[in-house]
Amino acid sequence: MKPTNRPALATFSSGPCAKRPGYSLAALATDTLGRSHRSSLGKSRLAKAIAETKAVLGIPSGYRVGIVPASDTGAFEMAMWNLLGARGVDAFCWESFGEGWVTDIQKQLKLPDVRLFRADYGHLPDLSQASGDRDVVFTWNGTTSGVKVPDGDWIAADRKGLTLCDATSAVFAMDMPWAKLDAVTFSWQKVLGGEAAHGMLVLSPRAVERLTTYKPAWPLPKIFRLTKGGALMEEIFEGSTINTPSMLATEDYLDALAWAKSIGGLPALIQRSQANLAAFESFVASHPWIRFLAREARSRSSTSVCFLVELPAEQVKKMVKLLGDEKAALDCGAYKDAPPGLRFWCGATVERSDVEKLLPWLEWAYEEVRKA
Ligand SMILES: Cc1ncc(COP(=O)(O)O)c(C=O)c1O
Repeated sequence: MKPTNRPALATFSSGPCAKRPGYSLAALATDTLGRSHRSSLGKSRLAKAIAETKAVLGIPSGYRVGIVPASDTGAFEMAMWNLLGARGVDAFCWESFGEGWVTDIQKQLKLPDVRLFRADYGHLPDLSQASGDRDVVFTWNGTTSGVKVPDGDWIAADRKGLTLCDATSAVFAMDMPWAKLDAVTFSWQKVLGGEAAHGMLVLSPRAVERLTTYKPAWPLPKIFRLTKGGALMEEIFEGSTINTPSMLATEDYLDALAWAKSIGGLPALIQRSQANLAAFESFVASHPWIRFLAREARSRSSTSVCFLVELPAEQVKKMVKLLGDEKAALDCGAYKDAPPGLRFWCGATVERSDVEKLLPWLEWAYEEVRKA
């Protein structure tokens, strides 16, 4: 039977992700538009975005948080190009984005001493191989496989190397052990459903120490530079951006942060994402034709929830189209480099009630495609 009840918001894309419940463009402040981002007003809003990020995420006081260009990719490349090269690197990857960082470490930075720990889609590499004497590069949540790092226990508290963590689809939805992380990056459009444009770069005191005591052997374009004359450019972490930011995207992010606080902050955000995953888990338990791409429950992502379906790839594509055409779930196909399947964003801005309304549609689309 074709369902009749559609999700109120069918935006299940894994980036840009669903706007927060109750979102209204008209509710955004517009007094910064057309003003200089370096005016006291503009700077105060950028500084507020930094301060509220720290507050909601509980980032330790000694850590720097900066707004940088080019979304999460910009922030993570910035971290790698500024910090790597001082020590050997242990790189862990298990899906497309992690692979991308490995490509840059090996083919662009051409680092001579790299140990690569790779796993197939659905699995995690052996994290216990990470050496505290070396820098460690990894992605907290593999958005394209739905496989996440379960915790930070494998990272040595007394490490000498730095940990560089792409956490864009994890922060605001998963517990981050900040003391184990030295350079963390994310974007605004993921878990809080903000607008794409800027990246966030979080640096531990030890990462700052590396920046001020080590000079990479390669040139750094202006857009990547975090130091001047060997000193940290502190102003980047106080709201003076390297180049012009979008003040509209900034207001949108502030709106998302205010919503996050209003619903109870980080614990509530994490709980919402987990409730969404739980709704899918009970569906999968009673439907043998669908299974999580993530092989182990403990590394199963609660944000980018990825599935394999017992159908040929072409038919899975038809399911994705049907779900989109029916406005039951928009943009729910697997990432282009991932095994064919379905992916539903289940971050904090997604309502569990919408996931529940989607499930009968999923069953319907499967049957429609199968009998065709
Ligand atoms: C884990 C991960 N890293 C990097 C990126 C790229 O992020 P951006 O498009 O914000 O640069 C994404 C985007 O989905 C991602 O999920």
